[in-house]
Amino acid sequence: MKKLKNLPVHIAVIMDGNGRWAKKRRLPRILGHREGAKSVRAVTEACAELGIGYLTYYAFSTENWKRPKKEVSFLMKLLNEYLDKEKPTLLKNNIRFNVIGGISRLPRAVREKISEVKKTTAKNTGLTMTLALNYGSKNEITEAVRKIAKEAAGGKIKPAEVNEKTIEKHLFTAGMPDPDLMIRTSGEMRLSNFLLWQMAYCEIYITPVLWPDFRKKELIKALKSYSARNRRFGGV
Ligand code: FPP
Repeated sequence: MKKLKNLPVHIAVIMDGNGRWAKKRRLPRILGHREGAKSVRAVTEACAELGIGYLTYYAFSTENWKRPKKEVSFLMKLLNEYLDKEKPTLLKNNIRFNVIGGISRLPRAVREKISEVKKTTAKNTGLTMTLALNYGSKNEITEAVRKIAKEAAGGKIKPAEVNEKTIEKHLFTAGMPDPDLMIRTSGEMRLSNFLLWQMAYCEIYITPVLWPDFRKKELIKALKSYSARNRRFGGV
């Protein structure tokens, strides 16, 4: 493969279209999610191989609790399975596992697995793979503002000293670079409450391909589109 130039440091992904993939095949929605988990595996390995620094998936939003109970519990089960199965692959590929979002609302079994996989992969120095779980950007910003307000009320910080860095430090993504490229599958043209602050200057790539069909070949297409862009960050 020709070497790709100008790779993004951080890729954010909205995995959409699992349900439609299943419907097209007259299968239950959950089988779309199962196939989608295989795309997570393929895309993560490809990113590790390409030397991408950060990869953040929108796996479960604060709004996803509204889905049928059965689907929610299947997604949690899938997550559990994924963490079990992938641990050796994450280690083999030098991937550091990370999570953003309101973890306390997740089932205990999932929380325990998350902290175990985080701990075992903490010293890895390659790709940082982050799952956004029970994540919502407005909730994240609200929490950050609440913490800053508390610090101000306690005299730890002066209101006039609050700047962009202060806010960034209080987000779940503290210490991570902002995404350079956001990929959304299945043709939907929305941000859906994902990393709103962090994506202020992000390049957006939307493909009609459904998430279960998005594998290495599609990732390369997105990277080629990104590398051809001219990012100006508001300048000329
Ligand atoms: C969107 O498709 C997908 C989700 C809300 C869940 C994403 C979860 C996975 C890909 C699988 C589990 C993840 C990991 C990390 C193992 P949709 O159901 O909204 O599709 P639709 O819009 O076609 O109905």
